[in-house]
Amino acid sequence: MAVRSLFQACLLSPLVSVVSAGPALGKIGSFVQTQKLSDPNYGPKPGQDPLFSTYYGVEAPFPGNLRDAVLPTKTGPPGEDDQVWQNLLAAEWIIFDFYQKAVESFNATSFVAAGYPNTTYQRIQEIRNNEAGHLRIFQNQISPTSVKPGGCEYQYPFYDAVSFLALATVLEISSMAFLTGLVQQAKLPSSQGAMLAIAETEARHEVWSLIEIWKQNPFGGPADTTFPYANQILDSTNGYIVPGSCPLENPPFPNPRQNLPSLSAAKGTVSLTPGSNIALNFTNPENQPTFAKGKDYYAVFFHGVYNVSVPIDTKDWPEKEIYVTIPEQFETKGVIVAVVADAEGAPTEETVVAGPGVILEQPAALATKLL
Ligand SMILES: *[C@@H]1O[C@H](CO)[C@@H](O)[C@H](O)[C@H]1NC(C)=O
Ligand SMILES: *[C@@H]1O[C@H](CO)[C@@H](O)[C@H](O)[C@H]1NC(C)=O
Ligand SMILES: *[C@@H]1O[C@H](CO)[C@@H](O)[C@H](O)[C@H]1NC(C)=O
Ligand SMILES: *[C@@H]1O[C@H](CO)[C@@H](O)[C@H](O)[C@H]1NC(C)=O
Repeated sequence: MAVRSLFQACLLSPLVSVVSAGPALGKIGSFVQTQKLSDPNYGPKPGQDPLFSTYYGVEAPFPGNLRDAVLPTKTGPPGEDDQVWQNLLAAEWIIFDFYQKAVESFNATSFVAAGYPNTTYQRIQEIRNNEAGHLRIFQNQISPTSVKPGGCEYQYPFYDAVSFLALATVLEISSMAFLTGLVQQAKLPSSQGAMLAIAETEARHEVWSLIEIWKQNPFGGPADTTFPYANQILDSTNGYIVPGSCPLENPPFPNPRQNLPSLSAAKGTVSLTPGSNIALNFTNPENQPTFAKGKDYYAVFFHGVYNVSVPIDTKDWPEKEIYVTIPEQFETKGVIVAVVADAEGAPTEETVVAGPGVILEQPAALATKLL
């Protein structure tokens, strides 16, 4: 039964007061409870409640425990930046659940036993709390005329404390790069400021992991990587979503979606540092690129505020792998974002034909482990 019709059934039935009363909420009750989120003053406020910083419970904190979509409460045109915030909220569910799943799967001993500081589990809980705050902040940025996307079911490729921490490092720095693109879609200065503040929070998480977990110099050079096509980065996270598990009211994710072939270095690549020659892999067998005969293609690498295009030879693909050298002038710091494009510099979204692939440079040794 569709959630929306459950909701409507609810409004007509005396069940409402019963099922929404206690903590053991049924499906209908939780949907009713979730609709209260349409009031921005409902529940604790991020930045004003320790829940979003220093809560050390295992259970999902508010509003991560209210997973349904929040329906519009007014009719009318959407707010100017609603679509951008909807994309961000849908992405935030992926990140929040990633940390929530870690809090549920591990305990303090798991990280100490793997050789990490005895504060690691606490920090993971605190990051989880920050991410819950992001859920609430993004919900409140979406105007009452638009749906606020709910959580789906997710699957993450981590199987122990170390693989979790590695994936966390790449997800944090990817979200920093992603926000540099998303902020370019936002029209209101207040939206832009809020997104910058979120990117700064993700940067603090990243810096914590560089210092405490990986024992690295935390600095990433004069500028982190800016990549303009935010929805392409979001699309590459679709693999974490269990197909068909999202609330029916959610808009498509990302919106709009190019559905480009995913891009990675081939398995067995020994190094992804600048100057390395690597073979490309289009990792989804059901979504492979097509290369026109006689047309020029490039691997375009973004690092800091610049990009460098390297011509690639596609004419014998897929019989022969496509090799490319990561620009050696880049510093081995932060992250490199790579796409395959049919124009030098990938000057528009439409020129991108595959990717992006996110190449972690710091710590460089982790990058090949994530292939
Ligand atoms: C962590 O979990 C392990 C395995 O379930 C258990 O043996 C251990 O006592 C737990 N440690 C803490 C600090 O809860
Ligand atoms: C955590 O580690 C620090 C230093 O590494 C130590 O001083 C502290 O006592 C430890 N705390 C616990 C709870 O084990
Ligand atoms: C390409 O990626 C797919 C999916 O991860 C993997 O199964 C395959 O082995 C990879 N091929 C190469 C050459 O890396
Ligand atoms: C990449 O750099 C070129 C040359 O500086 C620039 O024209 C192009 O717009 C850049 N691409 C993107 C996507 O920013």
